[in-house]
Amino acid sequence: MDYQSEYQKKLTTLEGAYSMLKDGDLFYAGTATAEPVTFLKHIHEMHGKLHNLTMHINLALANVPAYDPKYADMWNVQSSFFARFLTPLQRMGMSTYMPSHLRNIGVDPEYRYKNITNQRVNAYVLAVSPMDKHGYFTSSSYACYHRTWMDYADKVIVEVNENAPRTFGDTYIHISEVDAIIHSEDNKIIYMPIKEPDEDDKAIGKQIADLIKDGDNIQLGIGGIPTACARELAVRKDLGVHTEMLNDGLVYLAKAGAITNKKKNYFPNKIITTFSMGTKDVYDYIDDNPNILHLDVAYTNNPKVFARNDNVISVNSCLQIDLMGQCASEAIGTNQISGVGGQTETAVGAKESPGGKSIIALHSTRMLKQPDGSKKMVSNITPVHPAGTVISLMRNDVDFVCTEYGMAALRGASLKERSKALISIAHPDFRAELEEGAKKWYLM
Ligand code: COA
Repeated sequence: MDYQSEYQKKLTTLEGAYSMLKDGDLFYAGTATAEPVTFLKHIHEMHGKLHNLTMHINLALANVPAYDPKYADMWNVQSSFFARFLTPLQRMGMSTYMPSHLRNIGVDPEYRYKNITNQRVNAYVLAVSPMDKHGYFTSSSYACYHRTWMDYADKVIVEVNENAPRTFGDTYIHISEVDAIIHSEDNKIIYMPIKEPDEDDKAIGKQIADLIKDGDNIQLGIGGIPTACARELAVRKDLGVHTEMLNDGLVYLAKAGAITNKKKNYFPNKIITTFSMGTKDVYDYIDDNPNILHLDVAYTNNPKVFARNDNVISVNSCLQIDLMGQCASEAIGTNQISGVGGQTETAVGAKESPGGKSIIALHSTRMLKQPDGSKKMVSNITPVHPAGTVISLMRNDVDFVCTEYGMAALRGASLKERSKALISIAHPDFRAELEEGAKKWYLM
């Protein structure tokens, strides 16, 4: 089979790719290094020619011109993990969030088609690593629902990025499955910067490291704190990884030799993830690395699969926790800040794993911007969340909560014991206020 001539036949321009969409179409776009950045960066040029499109994207990283409200009649953006730049669009009705556990988003096209919109998925557009000699591209750092979307979409448009890492697992995509090929205009990769751990991060990381033994299986969630925790774990031996997201923290540990995956009873000797996201370090590490499998999220994030390994420790973060242990991890009130992703799935999976633990790590306070532009220190531990706050992780699924002031054990604790433990790890300036709140809400 001459894959090169098939490639040349399918190779088209951006205009050629856009011409495969028509008014009212629904298209899905890849995430992380599979985000089709060139395709999205120029789609506003179709303004006036295309109307009423819907794009579904898990997490948008590129803030492209088409997100300007003046393109509201061209498209609407659905996202299952909110990027901060979509918030203004949400408020004017041009963007919306799709609540779902990460593992269920992939099966939603079928369900949506039957029960909600009766609309087909007209196209799946994604960035891919270059084609190999067997005619295979890969969806790079993004397995999630890639294969499901491949099956559902009427057309598949790939944007070849010379620098997109090539991965193993459920990320394959053969040229025979592709309808059109475009090339990335600059072959750039969007990195997720990480912040250097500060003293509080280190204090949190040390306590969490104390709960993790040699040979445990770890999952580190998204955000500054889980990443910082990794630094403190470099002294551990033979850690294993079955995770939703392979990030800088885990890559740091793998490179430091702390992760060998030897003690895993499920997929030993391999890192299992459904996507990878982070700095250049992450993408260099996963590129052509047969030791890492990017597998379908319906599988990786199924708590039953998570729990097949013993001693699974999930470390996630939240924006705010109340005195009962309910975690607001994605929104405050109805203000959608990020998404639930696989937080519940990994926490529940860890709890179900023999010897497993579900940990939430957060700073006790944050400097929060006020409406007048000033900043004010607020407690991330609160008696009750503001009205309407989305609970991403329910109180029954949190075993430990860690701040720079200590660790609160919640599994098996009554409401009184929980509020007492959580107040003891709050910032001292807020403890009296929290005690008053606990009394007011009958939590003490
Ligand atoms: N009111 C209003 N805004 C608030 C707030 C509050 N009480 N608390 C936090 N925010 C805002 C912050 O100001 C910040 O805004 P900015 O980006 O404009 O500065 C934003 O929320 C994010 O806060 P930060 O604490 O810096 O986030 P982070 O990058 O450390 O990530 C989570 C923390 C909780 C958002 C992140 O871990 C998450 O999305 N978790 C849910 C998904 C998950 O855990 N998946 C599991 C596996 S990947």
